[in-house]
Amino acid sequence: MCGIVGYVGNKTAQNVLLSGLKRLEYRGYDSAGIATLDEDKEPHIARSVGKISELEQVLSAKPHTGHLGIGHTRWATHGGVTVTNAHPHHVGNVFLVHNGIIENYKELKEQLSSYEFKSDTDTEVLAALIDSNYKDGASLKDAVAKALKEVRGTYGIAAFSPNEPDTIVVARLGSPLIIGLGKDETIIASDASALLGYTREAIYLNDGEIAVCNKDGAEVFNLNLKHLSPNPETIEGDVEQIQKGGYKHFLLKEIMEQATTLPNTLSGRVDAKNGTMHLGGPNLTTKEMRDVRHIVIVGCGTAYYAGLLASYYMEQLIPDITTEVVIASEYRYRSFHLPKNSLALIVSQSGETADTLACLREIKKRGIKTLGIVNVIGSTIAREVDGGTYVHAGPEISVASTKAFTAQVVTMLMFAGMIASYHGGNAELIHKFAKELSILPTEIEKCLNDHRAEMEQLAKKYAKYNDALYLGRDTAYPIALEGALKLKEISYIHAEGYASGELKHGPIALVDETFFEVFDILDNWLYDKSLGGLHEVRARGGKAIVLTNSKADIEADDIVRVDSKIELLMPILLNTLQQLFAYYVAVERGNDVDQPRNLAKSVTVE
Ligand code: AGP
Repeated sequence: MCGIVGYVGNKTAQNVLLSGLKRLEYRGYDSAGIATLDEDKEPHIARSVGKISELEQVLSAKPHTGHLGIGHTRWATHGGVTVTNAHPHHVGNVFLVHNGIIENYKELKEQLSSYEFKSDTDTEVLAALIDSNYKDGASLKDAVAKALKEVRGTYGIAAFSPNEPDTIVVARLGSPLIIGLGKDETIIASDASALLGYTREAIYLNDGEIAVCNKDGAEVFNLNLKHLSPNPETIEGDVEQIQKGGYKHFLLKEIMEQATTLPNTLSGRVDAKNGTMHLGGPNLTTKEMRDVRHIVIVGCGTAYYAGLLASYYMEQLIPDITTEVVIASEYRYRSFHLPKNSLALIVSQSGETADTLACLREIKKRGIKTLGIVNVIGSTIAREVDGGTYVHAGPEISVASTKAFTAQVVTMLMFAGMIASYHGGNAELIHKFAKELSILPTEIEKCLNDHRAEMEQLAKKYAKYNDALYLGRDTAYPIALEGALKLKEISYIHAEGYASGELKHGPIALVDETFFEVFDILDNWLYDKSLGGLHEVRARGGKAIVLTNSKADIEADDIVRVDSKIELLMPILLNTLQQLFAYYVAVERGNDVDQPRNLAKSVTVE
């Protein structure tokens, strides 16, 4: 969703801000802007609707020369997508960019009736509130702190004033802000990827903190202005990871690089020889691992489906634990009860998803231990869980999640393997999973290379359809759901995932020659039952694509057969084919593959 960048130093702020905003493009946005202060302390604002390239055009007509500034990509919440609603907002002596939502902005707007508001945004109200406190000798920091005490909602903000021309004030509550400490420069961003290439040293602001930044660094305070001394942390990753690396789209790069990122997920955690798995991050005592009886897995979208697939594996591996997989946006408001000896796995690529974060906090209130299965290092969820494990998929830029899904499933599987060994789990089965995990990267690579061209051809054939059903049984069911999600979000084809056994309970009524169906069929003990719906669909004119590792004769319109040593983890391989299929369908339909309409990479508001 929205992104923030700020810069104070010796470079031309405009260039740093634009390059930072481009790095944040992937998060999803509909307008952008920057505000800078020039050498004569004169402020300048440039804003535009649409892509950063539009903003660049505005700036090329009238470049900004100053060395301090703030920038923003906006994903509309209050007010339409217009230049007036785009950030930065300027009220009185204050220039402000803001991520998040000010819930009581209407009340505040009434209190601030002496101001003339130009936009429909909550952010302009916050700017006015800060300005109204910026008087009687108060510094910008004082004014921001005072204003934020009156605010209900969430925010990550960056503000400056021509009155204090060397300073940017930032603050956060529920929306990330990172302060990069460079040599004679300080770069602020809502996402560490914007800092790569400038510095590796950064302060991750915590909720309820405010910082005063200048080119020599930053001073951090709480909202009562008590001075704090946070330790700077190291930012991981490098610029190459957030570039397309020769691929046309980030999505294709991220699908194809699963074979190289997965070894990072597995590294030091699986011993295929001895058949063991171990994760250090959860930091559980032997007693805690033995005592656990219930595991709840929380996530949204793809993270939820990863949890669902992992729960099937957990049930196979751990004989005496119940698992429950929940959608965060529902669970946070349910009157849920978790038995004693529960553990919660909080699954999130971004580590910032508002609903998932809210669940984490609700679960913690109930005294249950929470473990993060998170990709983005230093993200809010990663910081608030009691323990956890990074999935180490590397930066995922494309809005549609692909390599993170695989890494999440694998990480939860390793967690299950570890717990299973304390619960009398079947050692042979644990060993088999460990062996398959150790060859998964090379098998994924083979699968992608063997079938990439085939999936492209299939996509060309099916791109004209407007409706699709994805069907799977047992461990292929979660990937049917995930396959349908992937297709709908980037191709805009209406697609639904179902458990194959549900076909007769309703969805088959939809099937006719205008539909195509993707059947994920595993060559396992449920093979015959998985074939069930196939004949029924074809009898009604529906077109059937089968993705399978079976070598048996199957009647279908198209069959993609995966030849692999992998058995138990076959759903992961079939899912990579679905990822390729969705990608090529979206390309064929001429869509914006990496930034599909209406979607944001991390959903930081409800
Ligand atoms: C996946 O392709 C989606 N864009 C979306 O469902 C995503 O998985 C969901 O919003 C959860 O995000 P998170 O993993 O960052 O919490």
